[in-house]
Amino acid sequence: MLTTRPRGTNDVLPEEAFRWQYVEGVFRRLCQDYGFAEIRTPIFEHTELFERGVGEITDIVAKEMYNFFDRSNRKLTLRPEGTAAVVRAYLESGLKSGPHPVKLYYLGPMFRYDRPQAGRYRQFHQGGVEVFGTDDPEADTEVIALAVDFYRRLGLQNFELHLNSIGCKVCRPVLKENLSSFFKIRQKELCPNCQERLEYNPLRILDCKEPKDQEIAKGAPDSLSCLCPSCIAHFEAVLGYLEVLKIPYLIDKQLVRGLDYYTRTTFEIMVADTWAQSSVGGGGRYDDLVAALGGPPTPSIGFAVGLERVLLTMNKQNTPFPAPKNLDVFIVEADKEASRAALELLFFVRAQGLSADKDFLGRSLKAQMKYAAKKKARFVAILGKEEINRQVVSLKDLASGEQKEIFPAEIKEEIGKYKKA
Ligand code: HAM
Repeated sequence: MLTTRPRGTNDVLPEEAFRWQYVEGVFRRLCQDYGFAEIRTPIFEHTELFERGVGEITDIVAKEMYNFFDRSNRKLTLRPEGTAAVVRAYLESGLKSGPHPVKLYYLGPMFRYDRPQAGRYRQFHQGGVEVFGTDDPEADTEVIALAVDFYRRLGLQNFELHLNSIGCKVCRPVLKENLSSFFKIRQKELCPNCQERLEYNPLRILDCKEPKDQEIAKGAPDSLSCLCPSCIAHFEAVLGYLEVLKIPYLIDKQLVRGLDYYTRTTFEIMVADTWAQSSVGGGGRYDDLVAALGGPPTPSIGFAVGLERVLLTMNKQNTPFPAPKNLDVFIVEADKEASRAALELLFFVRAQGLSADKDFLGRSLKAQMKYAAKKKARFVAILGKEEINRQVVSLKDLASGEQKEIFPAEIKEEIGKYKKA
């Protein structure tokens, strides 16, 4: 137990960590390019926030939350998603009274107690964006375009944008009514969860993972046929803008998503033929959530990407990653007398803006050279009695094998030559 990580969690080891840094870096850069500012919210929140925000009948709230009581008996939950928490922070801070739309992005771990399998974990990581205070279909396009741009910038192949509209307060009751009548006829064939869903929110049945229920749901009435004129106009405008931006999409009339807060546009990005968990990201409009959590009516839209699934897809598709940044220089002590000067040189080199390391185990000269190569250092700077007397260092390029004596002050320039090349 002591050396086993909890089920459904992962360690990101050094050889994988640089890939994470790269993907997170691309996401950050992208959000900044689109005018989003970062927000960091706590990893746990009051349980009620998710119950009210995500919806009590959703799988996430009913079955997957990590709930606990703290020492003062407060009911708290490890966040299963970011949107409700960002809405809470938006309402609690001055952001709600600042200039709109408010465009926020976040990166961080989320927690869901689900059955783990490839691409589905109990602790996973999302990058997400939320836009508050606009019902303009251009904002939908902005968020969808950002999502697509993210996968494109990373070089992902074969991904598809699935798109739907699930209507608003006016037309959703019609959809719910139609779905209710449809499923009631086959109520007894549905799984016990869906029998309950039929009572509270028949839309959730469309999201059920049970194969039998999925089969029954195939013939269900679709949301687009129930839309009111203003939701039709909104959806058509989003499609029009996507066409302007030449972003291909597939209309998926049964895409309802697993969270209750969505209104109008819902979308998901799927990767074909990779593994069972093919959704690498999803989002949609949530025009009623801010008000449901106690704020003023604030139409909003957002999206979140699952970073583990993106990395799995990239590994599976052999997507090229930039080479990891290796150590610029490893300081080698040729003899004991050089140890003080080597330490000084190490910190001098680092202060010049180069990455540098040295041995701390009293290794022999040969073993230090081997260790430097293992650490993938590009150069070694060798210091011994001889060099100290003449106030020089021997700089060896481990790639070419070339070695020359230089003054310590010249190290930055010498190493800079290969960095520029
Ligand atoms: P979601 O679809 O529940 O949406 O999650 C977004 C993405 O997180 C999924 O497409 C998937 O890639 C990843 N994901 C979800 N669950 C897991 C898991 N157990 N293991 C690994 N990856 C997972 C949301 O969370 C919404 N908050 C998105 C949003 C933002 N909507 C509006 N704004």
